[in-house]
Amino acid sequence: MLKERTMTEEQTQIVERTESFVKAKLEKESTGHDWWHILRVRNNALNIARHETDPGDLFIIQLGALLHDIADWKFNGGDLKAGSVVATKWLTEQAVAPAVIQHVCDIIESISFKGARAKSAMKTIEGQIVQDADRLDALGAIGIARAFAYGGHFDRSIYEPDVAPETHNTFEQYKNSKGHTINHFYEKLLLLKDRMNTKAGRTIAEQRHAYLEGFLQQFFLEWNGEDWRQ
Ligand code: ADP
Ligand code: NI
Repeated sequence: MLKERTMTEEQTQIVERTESFVKAKLEKESTGHDWWHILRVRNNALNIARHETDPGDLFIIQLGALLHDIADWKFNGGDLKAGSVVATKWLTEQAVAPAVIQHVCDIIESISFKGARAKSAMKTIEGQIVQDADRLDALGAIGIARAFAYGGHFDRSIYEPDVAPETHNTFEQYKNSKGHTINHFYEKLLLLKDRMNTKAGRTIAEQRHAYLEGFLQQFFLEWNGEDWRQ
C-alpha cells in the first residue's frame, strides 16, 4: 500500500527555501555531487517513503536529503562535521526546532559509505530512507557516470590492471585511498545492494547493481579486445 504524507504550510515553505539555498550552492558542481544529484536523492527518498509501513517524518526526510551533501567531507579535508555546521546555521536561520536540526545533522554525519569493513549505520527510519536514496544514485547508469566524473576530478585514472581493489577496515583507510575508478566499483559500489535499509530501496538497488555488473563485463571485454574474437 502506498502512503502519502503531508507537511504543514510552514514546513513546505522551509523545504522550498532550502531547495533554493542548496541549488545556488551546488548548481555548478562537477563531481556528481551537484544539484541534480540532490534532487534525485530527494525523489528517491520520497519514493521509498511511500512504500514503507512507517514512512517517517516527511519534513526531516526532505531536509536530510536536500542538505546531505551541502559540505561533504570529501571536499572538506575529510571532516564529517563540515555539512552539519552549514546545515545548522541554515536551519537555525529558518527557525527550525533544535530537535529537528539535530536529527538532520545526525543524518548528514552518518550517511556516507566509510569502507568495506567500516560501519555506517543509520539509527532512524528517516536516516535509513535518505541513506538508501543516496546509495541508489551511486548505482546504475547514473552511478557509473558519477564515478568517472568524480575520479576525473580527483586525478584518478580510469583503470590500472596491476592495482587490485582493497578492503578498507576503517574510514581513515577508505578516505586516504587513491585507487583507480574501476577499483571503486569493487571497494564500494558493488557492496551497496547488500547494505540497503529498506525493502523498496533494495529492490531498485538489485536492478541497478545488475547494470553495473553488465557494464564491468563489457568494460573488460573491450579492454582485452575479446569482442574482436567473438
Ligand atoms: P557517499 O557519501 O556514500 O560517498 P555521495 O552522495 O557522496 O555518497 O556520492 C558518492 C559518489 O562519489 C559515488 O557515487 C561515486 O560515484 C563517487 N566517488 C566517491 N569516491 C570515489 C572514488 N574513490 N572513485 C570514484 N568515484 C568516487
Ligand atoms: Ni549524495
